[in-house]
Amino acid sequence: MKEEIEKVLAELDELKCLTRKEVEDARVRFLGKKGEVTALFEQFRTVGPEMKREYGRKLNELKQTVTAKIEEFRASVSDNAESDGPKEDLTMPGDAFEPGSRHPVSIVRQQIVEIFRKFGYDVAEGPEIEDDYHVFEALNFPPNHPARDMQDTFFVSTGHVNPLLLRTHTSSVQVREMESQPLPIRVICPGRVFRNEAISARAHCIFHQVEGLYIDKNVTFADLKQAILLFAREMFGPDAEIRMRPSYFPFTEPSSEVDVSCNICHGKGCNICKGTGWLEILGCGMVDPNVLEASGIDSKVYSGFAFGMGVERIAMLKWQVNDLRHYFENDMRFLREFSTATEV
Ligand code: DAH
Repeated sequence: MKEEIEKVLAELDELKCLTRKEVEDARVRFLGKKGEVTALFEQFRTVGPEMKREYGRKLNELKQTVTAKIEEFRASVSDNAESDGPKEDLTMPGDAFEPGSRHPVSIVRQQIVEIFRKFGYDVAEGPEIEDDYHVFEALNFPPNHPARDMQDTFFVSTGHVNPLLLRTHTSSVQVREMESQPLPIRVICPGRVFRNEAISARAHCIFHQVEGLYIDKNVTFADLKQAILLFAREMFGPDAEIRMRPSYFPFTEPSSEVDVSCNICHGKGCNICKGTGWLEILGCGMVDPNVLEASGIDSKVYSGFAFGMGVERIAMLKWQVNDLRHYFENDMRFLREFSTATEV
């Protein structure tokens, strides 16, 4: 028993406790129910009467030594800030988080969607990785149209009849809607699009579009004009005027580009509208009968219009931001400008 007492004392000499947990572990190891000192007290019961006095004293001393040592450690670690948790005043008020806000592109996209929702349009989305058929072929693009070139479009896979690519416009979603939805169709399709463009103040390789499509019996160009005029007035204010210029898109006939009266100089001419008094906002037209037929719609019974606009472009005009790149750089000084922009 003598050696065992010595052994415990030697272990105690070696003992180092740097954290509260280590102190508690040491207490359990020596003084706990199954601890080494406790075990010696158990053993003490079997000691013969002639030795009881001596060992009784030795054991009590041992217990006192161990207890004192552990208390010493306990005192030293509670002085130690690290092991004792933070020393700061935990009742102090915390730092307030700066609330986030919607990105300007997201705000404008939401406004466009809400305006058309009020007019009774549904919202549809389609895949960003599309196939040639939905982006080009079903939309009446001729086989050698430049948009089908690697220079203009990011291809994901090539070498087969219907290669996968990153959609270059959300017009692909109108094809998916015509294929899958019952007529009449009145839908807008917001989403991201991708083009193989050098990044500049006016172009980016990723941007957002909202596509619109309305197909029913007896839909005319007058309906298209009215829809766009109402949209322009909701978006740019009740005095906004539009003008339509003839244009060309493979999927519409006739096709038109639409300008809105400049909301900065109100038609007088300024540097934003380059002195013309007009700002281009979208492309549109009557859906080409070939496009209707490609998706199984009888072009003798049904007609429709489509339009497509760039969300960043509308946002630039609305807020007079003259460099597209601001929308992608996530500079907080820019984004904070929009933290109080109202949503529809
Ligand atoms: N898809 C065209 C583009 O990306 C935009 C567009 C023009 C969509 C005319 C249309 C449309 O639906 O009728 O530039």
